[in-house]
Amino acid sequence: DKANYRHFMAKEIHEQPEVVGHTLARYVDMATEQVAMPVTLPFDFKDIQRVSITACGTASYAGFIAKYWFERFARVPVEVDVASEFRYREAPLRKGDLAIFISQSGETADTLAALRYAKSQGLHTLSVVNVPTSTIARESEVVLPTLAGPEIGVASTKAFTCQLMVLAALAVAAGKARGELSAEDEGRLVHGLVEVPRLMAAALGTEPQIEKLARDIAKRQDVLYLGRGTSYPLALEGALKLKEISYIHAEGYAAGELKHGPIALIDENMPVVVIAPFDRVFEKTVSNMQEVAARGGNIILMTDAKGAAEATIESTVTIILPDMAAAFTPMIYAIPVQLLAYHTAVVMGTDVDQPRNLAKSVTVE
Ligand code: M6R
Repeated sequence: DKANYRHFMAKEIHEQPEVVGHTLARYVDMATEQVAMPVTLPFDFKDIQRVSITACGTASYAGFIAKYWFERFARVPVEVDVASEFRYREAPLRKGDLAIFISQSGETADTLAALRYAKSQGLHTLSVVNVPTSTIARESEVVLPTLAGPEIGVASTKAFTCQLMVLAALAVAAGKARGELSAEDEGRLVHGLVEVPRLMAAALGTEPQIEKLARDIAKRQDVLYLGRGTSYPLALEGALKLKEISYIHAEGYAAGELKHGPIALIDENMPVVVIAPFDRVFEKTVSNMQEVAARGGNIILMTDAKGAAEATIESTVTIILPDMAAAFTPMIYAIPVQLLAYHTAVVMGTDVDQPRNLAKSVTVE
């Protein structure tokens, strides 16, 4: 049931600190702050030359964020594909390498077909699923469950952040197994993960500000989302979320791609959501913001206190998220991104939990 919320989506957004916390506790030893996989992995990360990640929609964006983590922490190359492309492109795969599949429902037809293909090629198959009895879970060599609980809203929210938590812990485990992370690095990263539920709860505090902002967004025709590094796939997720529940056209772009085309769209009617925690690429994103501001675009900057102090640009609205370790910002910044889509849809009066033309689980290709 919806408890006291108007929609399942609102309830599921608000549940995130709790369910992401449950997921964390399954993958991390909270006492020693070390990673602890709930199952023994049937391969050694040292033997893996390439990881392939396959999923659809929001789950594919979780995979895209995880690519940055695996490559950074474990120095292992990662390829991310949407399942509908992966299943038919006959990608050359190496026997004994690792293929990861991400799915809330565990029943998505294209993801399942991709899993069967990887298996036929002799890869180890690992799935991150929310429904433990699902077909994808049954057919995978290893299952790493997300503990999001049932997700009813068609727009994925809590499943996404729980997927990120599992993938982050797995990437740390991979880095440790491959000798790329010292005990100290591991401790620092795991501590960063342990902080996530509390920071998510703090991020929910942006809701009144976002609700106000949504009244303006609801009047717009197009919205651009920009980010760099792990904030780039989150920009893609923000655009998808807005499209699917408010029916407003939105695009996510790597901030550095702005001047290669989309900047032509910028005028005073174009809101640009910039996802930019104060991290190693922050300065670069700020210069892209300057380009937007110079063309009259309305900037909505999602950053932290340091970022807000550094970004000297007149930005229309700044949403301040808590200070945190740079590695895991997508789990926290997902919250204002989801809230913005949600409140915009509420203002527009669309069917938030059951948007037109969409199914919760896409079991046909
Ligand atoms: O059940 P799955 O995670 O495999 O579903 C994948 C996509 O269909 C799903 O994430 C879809 O994009 C959502 N509507 C996004 O909010």
